[in-house]
Amino acid sequence: MTDSDLKRLYPISATINSKNHFTIAGSDLSDLAETYRTPFYVYDRDTIHENINQIRSAMADFYSGPGTIAYASKAYLSRKFASKIATEEVDLDVVSLTELRFALAAGFSPDRIHFHGNNKSIEEIEIAVDQDIHAIVVDNMDELLLTERIANSKKKVAQIWLRITPDIRVATHPHIETSAATSKFGFHIINGDAANAIEYAVNSSALCLTGLHCHLGSQLFDPLPYQIAIEKMFDLAINCHYTPLELSPGGGWGVPYVEDDPDNNPEKWVKAISETITEKCNRYQIRLPKLILESGRFIVARSGVAIYQIGTQKKSINGERIIAVDGGLSDNPRNALYQAKYTANPVDQSVNSRKNPCKVVGKYCESGDVLIDNVMLPDLNYGDLLMIPVAGAYQLSMASNYNLAPRPIVLWLEPKGKVEVLQERENLEQNSWWD
Ligand code: LLP
Repeated sequence: MTDSDLKRLYPISATINSKNHFTIAGSDLSDLAETYRTPFYVYDRDTIHENINQIRSAMADFYSGPGTIAYASKAYLSRKFASKIATEEVDLDVVSLTELRFALAAGFSPDRIHFHGNNKSIEEIEIAVDQDIHAIVVDNMDELLLTERIANSKKKVAQIWLRITPDIRVATHPHIETSAATSKFGFHIINGDAANAIEYAVNSSALCLTGLHCHLGSQLFDPLPYQIAIEKMFDLAINCHYTPLELSPGGGWGVPYVEDDPDNNPEKWVKAISETITEKCNRYQIRLPKLILESGRFIVARSGVAIYQIGTQKKSINGERIIAVDGGLSDNPRNALYQAKYTANPVDQSVNSRKNPCKVVGKYCESGDVLIDNVMLPDLNYGDLLMIPVAGAYQLSMASNYNLAPRPIVLWLEPKGKVEVLQERENLEQNSWWD
């Protein structure tokens, strides 16, 4: 493994011990494999904590208004993980009833929860209203009317944000672009929907429009589109004679998955976003809104590592080495969905034969079951352990039971070798698949 892979892609507590084994937070991954069996995922507490602290200190340096950080549950959530995140004193974005229930069970104050999504059910809106959550992030006119009706029926006032779509194209995979003029998400500015929604919401006695939100797309390395979006959102609001008390530019922060990916740092994003907001507020002579920075996968991606055992190997007709592991598309569909790039390294770092180009595939019945299209690996044998870094976001949360594969066990690692099971390996013989 190159020093730069170790420093940029693996958790900050990762080291190589005297046995030449890879360790995270003092836990030797080959010992963990013996105890918990593969495939398994680990999350490193220190990396999550450090990432949040970096954002927090950048906000203190660059934003003079009030502000907070939000974690996007969709990147990964289990009930125990929600409890860990709750100790970091961040807000939480949820997009489903189960995410909301986990958040409440983990002790998140409703005042720290924002409910996103483009088609919330009546039950979801009712519970969000009953719980007085911080913001129901309303996506469209149907939802605005529904939320108003539900709040009225309960004689309550629902606190809402509007999801604004500023119709900006961004440089990313089309499946993770969310703000183009044809996007299914949000109130588009271009056709007047956003202005109509603001006017409707401010005049409704059952709704309290506290802020505006936007999400432009994932895996961006330049904050400029967010700066343009923020400018458009302020222009829109002021044209509607509305002053947002809160602003939530959501997600987008790209993370490096492989050596060639650029670095990203919170300072750059927080500075760019803060300067744009400040400049707009000065120009319009309005108070700085509360900034709710929802930094997407940045908080968790690098804290996660997936560990597999190598099974069969073969050479394809074009000489390519194909290595099959005991997981694949069912625990990580990102290559199949977005041609996402990854790298891998053996847990036993004493293997130092010459490296050859390899393709790492899974064990499932699908040609698209590829974890890595191309990675340089030394000779490895049946039973050796292979780890894939930057596995903390959108792998487990998008995992499936394809071929009735159980979802892997997930471990939480703290310094000095402390290990806690966040999520047991799924047992499909003890649930509805079997009954
Ligand atoms: N906030 C909202 C309202 C969102 O829709 C999203 C992502 C985020 C925050 C988090 O942003 P991100 O972590 O992507 O920067 N499954 C895809 C990602 C889809 C994200 C959709 N919404 C992937 O694996 O890359």
